Amino acid sequence: KIYPVILSGGAGTRLWPLSRAVMPKQLLPLVSDKTMLQETALRVSGWPGLMAPLVVCGNEHRFLVAEQLREAGVTPLGILLEPVGRNTAPAVAAAAHYLKALDPEAVMLVLPADHVILDNEAFKAAVERAADLVSRGALATFGIVPQSPETGYGYIRRGALADGASDCYQVERFVEKPDRSTAEAFVADGGYYWNSGMFLFMAAGYLSELAKFNPEIASAAEAAMRTGYRDLDFCRLDEAAFAACPSDSIDYAVMERTRDAVVVPADIGWSDVGSWSALWEVQRRDESGNTQRGDVYLDGVSNSLVRAESRIVAVVGVENLVVVETPDAVLVAHKDQVQRVKHIVDHLKSKE
Ligand code: GDD
Ligand code: MG
Repeated sequence: KIYPVILSGGAGTRLWPLSRAVMPKQLLPLVSDKTMLQETALRVSGWPGLMAPLVVCGNEHRFLVAEQLREAGVTPLGILLEPVGRNTAPAVAAAAHYLKALDPEAVMLVLPADHVILDNEAFKAAVERAADLVSRGALATFGIVPQSPETGYGYIRRGALADGASDCYQVERFVEKPDRSTAEAFVADGGYYWNSGMFLFMAAGYLSELAKFNPEIASAAEAAMRTGYRDLDFCRLDEAAFAACPSDSIDYAVMERTRDAVVVPADIGWSDVGSWSALWEVQRRDESGNTQRGDVYLDGVSNSLVRAESRIVAVVGVENLVVVETPDAVLVAHKDQVQRVKHIVDHLKSKE
């Protein structure tokens, strides 16, 4: 059986001023009228062979998460609460322990709560191809054909065809977040995929690889789960045990190191909507190339994203702009420079 595990941590700082600590990107209706978390939960609802999702989130977001799932009509298998954020390797480890206790053969489909997938049928097919390899012990990643030398992604060099597969490959190399020139070389090479950050593996398989490469994370997550407790609909990880866990991502802690990784190429209309320009890319645009939301007035504007949350926003005679208005902050940025938005958040934090 396959259990979706939805990772709903993360801060989405490059989507400031809309995405905030109390209301991060995955809990916002960014692309449609549903929040990213709701979209993710609904995406994996009603697939044959797929169980209800386990959601892993920070303690402070528990009521929002529960309410959003209820509103979407999704009954989760559980909601696992992290008392503090320790990045994805521990979060996935805790989820793996939860599932393994329930079903020793559990296969987990790890899904970040804040990704867009336009072609769900193709995604389903990719998961099916991956499931076949996972049943023979592989840890599967979903590889996206790179469109540009992004430095915020992991890159996967494909090796030989995986056992018995016609279009899935062994991972020859996994390089998390290369520098610019390395990324350029990877894209030019043609044999590389972007790591989508979604994974399929057996809970037990992930835990044994983690124990091999990062025994401290493995044992801290195990202790946090063992001494954790149920609280209403929630499952709380033990605070002291989880706080003692080293912080690391699944990519560095396991995927870069395991020898059992395979990559399943996935042409699924994927985006991690990491920035305002990425959001502009995936949204429907009008004939001038604009996306707008809220009370917006545009005149002579092209290829821009304009969003009004609480007031009228009027924009005249410009192109390639991002304008985002919220009750307490306004962002105006060139669409090609939006990666720098995260520095605004750093700056604001340093003033606190
Ligand atoms: N529950 C929980 N707890 N979720 C978390 C935590 C945590 O402590 N930290 C991050 N997440 C969730 C975020 O919501 C995010 O959607 C996802 O896990 C991945 O974390 P990011 O912090 O966004 O990772 P990244 O973007 O730097 O890199 C990853 O994703 C890329 C694709 O979007 C890596 O897997 C890269 O290799 C990959 O290319
Ligand atoms: Mg990300």
